[in-house]
Amino acid sequence: MAWGKPLQKRKPVKFSTGSLVVCKRKKNCCVFYVLERKVLNLLFSKSDWLLCWFQSLQGAARDAVKFAIDVGYRHLDCAYMYQNESEIGDALRQKIEEGVVRREELFIVSKLWSTFHHRPLVKEACQKTLTALQLDYLDLYLMHCPMGFKAGEEIFPADGNGMIIPSNTDFLDTWEAMEELVDVGMVKAIGISNFNRKQIDRLLSKPGLRHKPANHQIESHPYLPQEELIKFCQSKGISVTAYCPLGAPNWPGSKPDHISLLDDPQIKEIALKHNKTPAQVLIRLQIQRNVSVIPKSVTPQRIEENFKVFDFELTAEEMETLLGFKKRYRICALSQCKNHKDYPFFED
Ligand SMILES: NC(=O)c1ccc[n+]([C@@H]2O[C@H](COP(=O)([O-])OP(=O)(O)OC[C@H]3O[C@@H](n4cnc5c(N)ncnc54)[C@H](OP(=O)(O)O)[C@@H]3O)[C@@H](O)[C@H]2O)c1
Repeated sequence: MAWGKPLQKRKPVKFSTGSLVVCKRKKNCCVFYVLERKVLNLLFSKSDWLLCWFQSLQGAARDAVKFAIDVGYRHLDCAYMYQNESEIGDALRQKIEEGVVRREELFIVSKLWSTFHHRPLVKEACQKTLTALQLDYLDLYLMHCPMGFKAGEEIFPADGNGMIIPSNTDFLDTWEAMEELVDVGMVKAIGISNFNRKQIDRLLSKPGLRHKPANHQIESHPYLPQEELIKFCQSKGISVTAYCPLGAPNWPGSKPDHISLLDDPQIKEIALKHNKTPAQVLIRLQIQRNVSVIPKSVTPQRIEENFKVFDFELTAEEMETLLGFKKRYRICALSQCKNHKDYPFFED
């Protein structure tokens, strides 16, 4: 995501994105994810950097989750940073009380935000999430990114140049605190997000590692296929989840005009052949490479559309086309963290 310089004279713009719906299906068993996020205010600086507060507009995440559960989604991907977990908690409670779904049929994921990397803060962060989601346990808890930020109320603590203020934490210590969450039953499994290969290696070779990361959530789409990183994770028994799978068409950060996966002629052609939409092709691509995928939508028709991805199969040649684009683009470059000692994207 793009984080901005401090606010000067910026024009507030109402901007909203929707719920993220992630789908994965293996044989007869379907696993679905819904991740909710809303950008409440988008404020532009002179230099076109963006500062976003991720916060759900009242009711949007709640409605999207309720609708998705009715459609059949069972795996919800949330995060403290999206600032909408209490809305999602309301939706979950309602659907459980209505008898539409039982807790044990859901797979709920959340993420430890970077301002909680100090060991004593990890349990507190997880408890905040559990309370907001109205749950006793999470199925999976991810370290949102390897970089620790200055602890405190500010989600994006930034210096006068708009660069993130780091904490002096080490993600290996943070990981140890996350392992304790498994021991006390607050989470069933733990994982990571936005790590590079060297950082994963470092984590896997940590002396006394007690719980291996179960999952790695990374940006992946045809303009950033991440083939090597995915193969590496899978070879180590770490499952992978792809975020921004549609290329984030309404992403609030600056993005070159030619970066539009949904309008890409080759992707449109493949979609046409299968009588599907480009979005469905992009979701199907990840499923066929054994990667969970989290396309985001708060639009009921799109939530349904993104679910209808199990009745067609991309050919080997189509897969090759989709993974063979020369165009490369990372949407979530986290450029305001480039000075951080654990900035992950110099390597991969
Ligand atoms: N782990 C991390 O560090 C990390 C970092 C960045 C992002 N993420 C997650 O990844 C998500 C990626 O979301 P994103 O918006 O950036 O990218 P995306 O999922 O690639 O695209 C979502 C956008 O596509 C639209 N959309 C959804 N389904 C569609 C369809 N069938 N046809 C046409 N448009 C469709 C949505 O609009 P509507 O909602 O209006 O329908 C939304 O604007 C974020 O929400 C975030 O939670 C995770």
